[in-house]
Amino acid sequence: MLRRLHHTQPDDFAYTPANQAWAEAQITKYPEGRQASAIIALLWRAQEQEGWLTRPAMEYVADMLGMAHIRAYEVASFYFMFQLQPVGSVAHIQVCGTTSCMICGAEDLIGICREKIAPNPHELSADGKFSWEEVECLGACTNAPMAQIGKDYYEDLTAARFTEILDELAEGKVPVPGPQNGRYAAEPLAGLTSLTEYDSGKTQYNASVQRAVDVGDTVKRIDGTEVPLLTPWLGKSGKAAAKPATKPKAAAKPKAKPAAKPAAKPRGTKTTTKVARKPVAADGKPELLKKARAGGADDLKQIKGVGPKLEKMLNTMGVFHFDQVASWRAKEVQWVDDNLEGFKGRVSRDEWVKQAKVLAKGGTTEFSKKVKKGGVYK
Ligand code: FES
Repeated sequence: MLRRLHHTQPDDFAYTPANQAWAEAQITKYPEGRQASAIIALLWRAQEQEGWLTRPAMEYVADMLGMAHIRAYEVASFYFMFQLQPVGSVAHIQVCGTTSCMICGAEDLIGICREKIAPNPHELSADGKFSWEEVECLGACTNAPMAQIGKDYYEDLTAARFTEILDELAEGKVPVPGPQNGRYAAEPLAGLTSLTEYDSGKTQYNASVQRAVDVGDTVKRIDGTEVPLLTPWLGKSGKAAAKPATKPKAAAKPKAKPAAKPAAKPRGTKTTTKVARKPVAADGKPELLKKARAGGADDLKQIKGVGPKLEKMLNTMGVFHFDQVASWRAKEVQWVDDNLEGFKGRVSRDEWVKQAKVLAKGGTTEFSKKVKKGGVYK
């Protein structure tokens, strides 16, 4: 199977602040000069954050590790665990198609994927919520057939149960992982025939399922806040310990793709009109404009995380001014985050509101200074 970079790529990539701290901490695990060894961990975290591995993400990681970009592309394209194309916004389904699972009904599961998700692997479903692929043995052969959904295993599947699981996920529910036919773990379906004393003291779920239920991140994108950042090898734990021994090269500088056109002329500071404060709409949709106010739109690219493509998307949505962004409340941020096709979650991840508050008052941020100098989008 050919593994190539996807034809459509986002403009840029940056870790969430918590994932950035996590990534920097990982680098400190390796001796000086061997930082490149952290590449798989860092690429994986980027994928856990975004759902798939974008070219800007690979380049960002390569820059952090002081590696040539081609080396990051090589690693990412070699390992099949890295998704090189967009995956479903809810879940990417990996159906095991190897011998035990195949004998026990994997082909039926794949048929369901073709019917309910998309005819071909790695294609998005019509609603963009799901994608699927067939994978090699995932090591749960005793519980065949099985599929990995997000981060967890769903085992002892039947076509009917698998269909139900997909439907539940589409409704926003996360079915409990593990055996789906009443088995506790990998014992005979009719119960233990030896070592029967182990039948007593059973908990509700086996340890692996219990862990999945406790962590609750089966189909969640990882933003880094899920668990405390622990760096015991530094002799401390928590945020303070997250700093790498040496600052990774270009660690904080996402590679921005040059835009096709010159950047819009910086409009400098100007008096902004305050958006009237209305209660948040029930669906969270913020107040949007049909066109920019007299005086023209603000250069939204001064907000870190907004490239030319995103600026265009925001303008089409009805967002032209810093003060609009600055006024968004949590529910409105969520609405915009959910409606930025291909860039979901960027508003909160890059703290647009915080940046826009400064810019709306005519202030500058470190990033906006670079944009004004033409150092980011040329
Ligand atoms: S054959 Fe499917 S998990 Fe091993």
